[in-house]
Amino acid sequence: MVCVLFVCLGNICRSPMAEAVLRDMVEKRGLSSAIKVDSAATCSWHVGEQPHKGTREKLKEFGISTSGMKGRQLSTDDFETFDYIVGMDNSNIQNIREMLGQPDHPKIFRFLDLTPHGKDVPDPYYTGDFQETYELVVEGCEALLNKILSEIK
Ligand code: 4NP
Repeated sequence: MVCVLFVCLGNICRSPMAEAVLRDMVEKRGLSSAIKVDSAATCSWHVGEQPHKGTREKLKEFGISTSGMKGRQLSTDDFETFDYIVGMDNSNIQNIREMLGQPDHPKIFRFLDLTPHGKDVPDPYYTGDFQETYELVVEGCEALLNKILSEIK
């Protein structure tokens, strides 16, 4: 079993979107028993909350369910549990490294560094543009799934 954890600031916009999109891809490829997907926040502000309305509506538009998803905060145990700890932006990466006490571990990396974009995922909590974020998340998830498949063979 390969375990993937997406991390953003609040765990209500970007990381739950990536979690739901990757899980959908994994299910469609019949890989659910091989790849587990989760997400978490660096802050505690939205613990227990469902994803942001904008994330829920964007995913619904593409037939992707967010049912049962609830925000949680990153914990030190996550470093042992997960094989890929994927931050949405550079500030997430800094916070993850500090919270997990791992200054430079290869399993902690920035999501869109897997794509030619090599940039932060724009935060729709501030931009209001959930479509832009969704498109980048899909590209990132395709790249991440290819990386995982090449590494588990
Ligand atoms: P996220 O976006 O990190 O993509 O979930 C945010 C969610 C909430 C807040 C900021 C960003 N906030 O300030 O509450």
